[in-house]
Amino acid sequence: MAKKVIAIDGPAGSGKSTTAKLVAQRLNFLYLDTGAMYRAITLKVFENGVDVSDEKKLEELTKNSVISFKNENGINKTFLDGKDVTEKIRGPSVNQNVSFVSMHKKVRKILVEKQKEIGRKNNLVAEGRDTTTVVFPHAFKIYLCADIEERARRRFLELKEKGIQTSLREQIKEIAKRDKIDSQREASPLRVAKNSVVIDTTYLTIEEQVNKVIERCKESFGKVS
Ligand code: DC
Repeated sequence: MAKKVIAIDGPAGSGKSTTAKLVAQRLNFLYLDTGAMYRAITLKVFENGVDVSDEKKLEELTKNSVISFKNENGINKTFLDGKDVTEKIRGPSVNQNVSFVSMHKKVRKILVEKQKEIGRKNNLVAEGRDTTTVVFPHAFKIYLCADIEERARRRFLELKEKGIQTSLREQIKEIAKRDKIDSQREASPLRVAKNSVVIDTTYLTIEEQVNKVIERCKESFGKVS
């Protein structure tokens, strides 16, 4: 039977990660965090001192990387070449460089192919910029959005909880910069895909947002769990 794919997209801080994880858990689908794959490659680029504009080197490095996911006691872990990089890929150096790495077409081509392969084998909730357009164009599509101040506030609290020093103003600037790069880039820019269900999460709690997504999926797929 064809596998079911729910693809969730939206700008940075729209709540797509938390929502995708919880929706996957509730429906017993695999959670595919495509952003974590770009982040893992960025970490490797950074640790190897590779220039982010050297596409040839980036392509080679991406080809020679093994990225995998494992759910350990309810925590979704990301592994790069066998090493747990779950925490490291959320650090400031990756945050600042990931947009520059993910804009390269050759890097995207390799990662998109890996993602499609996973989708052929599993029912999944896929999260990420181009999952609704390029990777899984036939998926049930959800686009989450929220006001920039609210998205910055969420990111600020998330970093603060991890002990990372920052300010709300800095996060508004950081998110505005990422929105600009992500929507203006040539390869798979941030767009609301055709036939997406758009949900504004500015005033929703996580619980409300997850329920809303599941409700919509059930309307579309019939009984999914
Ligand atoms: O969703 P995130 O913040 O973890 O994404 C990190 C970066 O990777 C972000 O700048 C957009 C990029 N990305 C992408 O280009 N394509 C995807 N499918 C997922 C993420």
